[in-house]
Amino acid sequence: MNEFNHGSISTAKRLAFTYELKRNFTKSIKKLLRKGVNQNPQFIKSRYSDIEAKKIVVDQGLGLVNGNQLSWFYTAFERDDKDPLTNFTLKFINEKVDKNKKILVTGCGTGIMVFHLADQGFKFVEGRDLLPECIKIASILKDKFDYTETSFLLDDGFKPFQNGKYDVITALHWVFSAWMGNYGNKQIENPRDYDVRSKLLIDFFGEYQSLMNPGCLFFVELIDAVADYRDPFDHPIGLESLNIYPVRFSPEQVAICGKEHGLELIEKRLSVSYGHQPRTTFVMRKN
Ligand SMILES: C[S@@+](CC[C@H](N)C(=O)[O-])C[C@H]1O[C@@H](n2cnc3c(N)ncnc32)[C@H](O)[C@@H]1O
Repeated sequence: MNEFNHGSISTAKRLAFTYELKRNFTKSIKKLLRKGVNQNPQFIKSRYSDIEAKKIVVDQGLGLVNGNQLSWFYTAFERDDKDPLTNFTLKFINEKVDKNKKILVTGCGTGIMVFHLADQGFKFVEGRDLLPECIKIASILKDKFDYTETSFLLDDGFKPFQNGKYDVITALHWVFSAWMGNYGNKQIENPRDYDVRSKLLIDFFGEYQSLMNPGCLFFVELIDAVADYRDPFDHPIGLESLNIYPVRFSPEQVAICGKEHGLELIEKRLSVSYGHQPRTTFVMRKN
């Protein structure tokens, strides 16, 4: 996942050019076909465009993986409003949280969500990620497009740096993948064991205790335990899917684990259309 070919900026530029041509063509066709169909409302305009961000990724030598494929740093900027759970979280925060509250986005990647929240008017948004490449891209975007309300920090979300208190913390799109051993994290043994799962989640919540103001909202996205009894042949990759993101939770288990640290489960949202397994975003509130 982290094998970047730093010497091939010109290859990356060439690949990116053909890729964007094809992508724009497909996008136009899709737009025509979906004309008149009820869509999720588009979010507000960003201070930077996806194409500007992608150029930065390529110029930093992070555009390629395995020497001949565009990297996920590059394609990450294509998320738009495709993921229902990201949309749900952003809408929830935008509608229910005061713009002066402090937000921490863990596993922020190249900062897409951080910048989006800043574009929505939030004044204090901090992003943290384990990978220096992500923090580098995010920091360049911050400086170039004047996101003074944001900050970025290299940090392990399983042992977060304790430097203050937040009113909203998000852990979206990374914890379940990290537990599988991705991004250089340690793979969890016995991931199907109920007690192993409980301990993982209780420990995870525990790490954020002293970073939370009273009433803090903690958004955590997890693989839903319905994946445990999903018929593997319902999945495009069949039996192999059994091992994809094997740490999974039912809402009941999340509620029980949350209570251990005074976190109340106040809302949840399931998505089965995006990603490899059904996922649920849980909204926990610190009492
Ligand atoms: C799929 S990306 C998602 C990025 C972002 N949350 C989003 O929704 O666009 C997963 C991110 O989690 C980060 N990550 C993985 N393990 C982490 C850890 N232990 N601590 C902090 N970030 C981590 C990866 O570096 C990567 O940037």
